[in-house]
This record gives sequence, C-alpha cells and structure tokens, in this order.
Amino acid sequence: MNKSPIILGIETSCDETAVSIIQDNESGIPKILSNIVSSQFDIHKEFGGVVPELAARSHVEKINLIAKKALDESGVTLDKISAVAATSGPGLIICLSVGLNFAKSLASSLKVPFIGVNHLEGHALSPKLHTNISYPYLLLLISGGHSQFLSVNGLGSYTRLGTTIDDALGEAFDKTAKLLGIEFPGGPNLEKFAEKGDPNKFKLPKPIINKGGCNLSFAGLKTAILRTTKYINSEQEKYDLAASFQKTIEEILCIKSKVAFKEFSKNSVKEKFFVVAGGVAANQGIRRKLIQICNENNFTPIFPDIKLCGDNAAMIAFVGLEKYKIKKFDKLDLKANPRLALDANAIFLKGSGVRL
Ligand code: KG4
Ligand code: ZN
Repeated sequence: MNKSPIILGIETSCDETAVSIIQDNESGIPKILSNIVSSQFDIHKEFGGVVPELAARSHVEKINLIAKKALDESGVTLDKISAVAATSGPGLIICLSVGLNFAKSLASSLKVPFIGVNHLEGHALSPKLHTNISYPYLLLLISGGHSQFLSVNGLGSYTRLGTTIDDALGEAFDKTAKLLGIEFPGGPNLEKFAEKGDPNKFKLPKPIINKGGCNLSFAGLKTAILRTTKYINSEQEKYDLAASFQKTIEEILCIKSKVAFKEFSKNSVKEKFFVVAGGVAANQGIRRKLIQICNENNFTPIFPDIKLCGDNAAMIAFVGLEKYKIKKFDKLDLKANPRLALDANAIFLKGSGVRL
C-alpha cells in the first residue's frame, strides 16, 4: 500500500458535479491537490429548484471534463491514484448513478479499489480536511436535504441525537426565498437580502421549541412566511420578512443546540467540539450566533472552510481515504442508495403522526 495514498473523489448526488484529488499527510490533515466544483445554478434557475433529469444530464456531459480538470490541477497522473471514491447516497438516484458508474469504470480500468461514500459522512468529517479534531464530537448537519444533531463517534459510527421532523433547514431557506421572489439559489441570496431588513419587524413561530429534545421543525415557519407574504406590499417589508426569518432561524438553532450540548455532555468528553457542517453552515449570521453560545457553554466551535460547506468532492475523497487506510473497499456491484442514513438505528421521524 502506498505510504501517502492519493484518492480521487467524485460527488454527483444533486446539482454539483465535483471531482477532487487529495493526498494523505503525516500531520493527519490531508493535502487537497485539487477540488473542482461545477454548479448547475444556471440550468435550474428558471425552474426555481433542481430538476433531477436536467441535473443528471448535466453530470453526464461534464464529469469527464471535471475529472480531467481535477487531474490537471493536481499534477497527479492516473497511475498514481490509489483508489477512487464516489458518493453512493443519499441523493437523487439518477444523479448518484452517474458519479458512481464513472468511479467504478475508472477504478476497474486503473485496477485500484473502489469506495462508495455516504454523502452525509462527507459533510460530517469535512472539518478534518483542515483541523485535527478527535472523536467524539457533536455535529449539527444543516444542508438542503438534512438537519440533524449527531454524535460523531468515529468513521462509520454515528448516534443521532435529533433530526428535523419535516423540512430540512436549507429547504426552509430555499422555499422562503422563493416566496419572497429571491432568485435561485435561495439560501445564500436570502442572507444578503436579510441584511437590508429589520429583524424585529415580524414575529414568526418557532415550532416544537420547548419540546422534542433537540429535534427540529421548520414547516410551520414556512407556512407563516406564506401567510405573511400575502399582506406585504413594499420591497422594504420583504427585506424585513427575510431578516425576521434569519433571526428566527438563529434563535431556533441556538435553543436547540443548547439542548444538544446537554445531551452530548452526558458522555464524559474532555474537550467538547461543536462542528457545524453542510451548505447552511456557510450562513454568517448562524455562524456568529453559534460561536457565541459555544463560548458560553464550554464548547469549541468548528466550521468547515466556506468552500467545503457546500457539496464538494474533497469531503468524499477524505472519507474514501479514511476507508482506504482500513481497507474498507466496495464491490463494483454497489448500488446507489437515495435514502442512505448516518445512524442506521435511528427511527424514522417524519410526517404528521410523529409523537415527540
Ligand atoms: O450541503 P449542500 O450544498 O447540499 C446538500 O447536501 O443539500 O446544501 C445546500 C443548501 C441549500 O438549501 C442552500 O440554499 C443552503 O444550503 N445554503 C444556505 C447558504 N448557503 C447555502 N442557506 C443559508 N445561508 C447560506 N449562506
Ligand atoms: Zn450536501
């Protein structure tokens, strides 16, 4: 086995075609030799959301080019690649299949191991691409499809402490943005929009805030936004509603994170880290507020670099590298799994029948 393995990672679970090449390093923090992310904003903009068939077609058209670009930028030749890793789930099945099939073909032609990676594990371990933190740590994963508090106990070992019972936080940002007429992609644009508004103008609900442990709920908030948009008539009021939404989210996350702190602290952990990962972790207001509560509660806040918050292949290559080190390879018949979870033992908590 190569002393400093080089992993080529591929991510195509949704609307980003991404390829990255990383190399192991004695420091424990691998070197990112290249990290190419091609977003499809322009393709989906006119539909106000991701259209799976268009996303998959675009992955097929671009994957070769992006892989070549990643190789060129890294200066690595194909014969130096130790293994090929690709996201196998969760995500859109026709999109996952593109990256997965590409990875399998490449691995078999290079005669190197193929490794399937859980996309959520990529987000969960992404801070390890630049910080040397030890397990276990508390994770708040906030992305377009997921919102969960987890104890990250080690590679492949997760305990879910709380999850959303309805919408994901990124979804709430995107839907609110759409209601306010903000251009796709909603999340990052809404944050800028909110800066011009009064965060105290509208009082919005905080669903299940005093119950359900650190489980989360955002659907009622979205309904309240929909109701309120019917009564606003000026541009300034739109800014105010965006600002009030941003403030409400910050408050919900602070209250629920403190519940998760207590839950996580039941294990006696020497130094307590709070990692916030996933696309929504790029939100500056959320970052500021969560750093503040970490300081007040003896947790060390860790946020992945902004370019590693959204979907990327460096995080997939990293999980691939960790699996490569323990020879956890996959067979070429591994199937894409659109519902792959991190904590397989956690019960399904979605829908109107949920009891908290
Ligand atoms: O992790 P990610 O890139 O893809 C998924 O795995 O889902 O997350 C994408 C989500 C989208 O909903 C996007 O609107 C949201 O992250 N997002 C943000 C910000 N940047 C991205 N939400 C709020 N504020 C931001 N600055
Ligand atoms: Zn993601």
